[in-house]
Amino acid sequence: MQSPAQYVSGNQLQRRDASRLLPPLLARLDCYGTVLGVDTSQAMVDFARRTYGTDRIQFQRADISSPTVAKVIGTTFDRIFSLFCLHWVQDQRLALKNIRDLLNTDGHAILIFLANNKIYEMYEKMSEYPRWQVFMRDWRSFVSPYQQEANPAQRFCHLAAKAGLSACRVTAPWCSFEFSTTEDLEAALTPVNPFVDRIPKEERHTFMAQCVQESTRRLF
Ligand SMILES: C[S@@+](CC[C@H](N)C(=O)[O-])C[C@H]1O[C@@H](n2cnc3c(N)ncnc32)[C@H](O)[C@@H]1O
Repeated sequence: MQSPAQYVSGNQLQRRDASRLLPPLLARLDCYGTVLGVDTSQAMVDFARRTYGTDRIQFQRADISSPTVAKVIGTTFDRIFSLFCLHWVQDQRLALKNIRDLLNTDGHAILIFLANNKIYEMYEKMSEYPRWQVFMRDWRSFVSPYQQEANPAQRFCHLAAKAGLSACRVTAPWCSFEFSTTEDLEAALTPVNPFVDRIPKEERHTFMAQCVQESTRRLF
């Protein structure tokens, strides 16, 4: 994620879901102490530090799918929250094992991520256009690992158990979100599009316009 400010202005969907899903879960957990926010993107960490950093809320660059992440972070936690991140991680086994290693005994994690989404069908279609092919050869590595799962919740439970996490409650509800305009849809799609920064600047507008077109074909 290279453009945190752009992400913040286009993340209505993530905010809507977080404000729906988090409060009932947080009501069941005591939360206190200090917070460490981590992200693999230095741009996100710098933005978060500048915007939200305090003595009690700190940020650090870390990759949850790295074998050394627990060592890099160097401490363990009573609560771990992961929002809209895990669908970016292909190695779910390692990411979940890392989350287990970062949790204190009796700790709890709340993990919210996309199981499947039409956006990935759009990536596949875009990767077939000769004009964009060269920038999108690795599109599969940006697809949620649960995209093709008939029962993503069951698959997640299985992987979580293998990683030593006991899953209290796992659901994969179908959710929809209404963008008022195609501009709003483009503002949401652009900052999370992993390919756009690879496209020459003068072609980005055409690329994103086509992403929006391919998305609306699938969404409506
Ligand atoms: C859609 S953004 C979500 C940001 C924020 N957590 C939120 O809820 O709005 C996904 C974030 O996951 C981060 N990310 C992707 N892979 C990661 C990894 N392996 N470890 C840590 N962060 C990762 C990206 O850099 C990006 O900032």
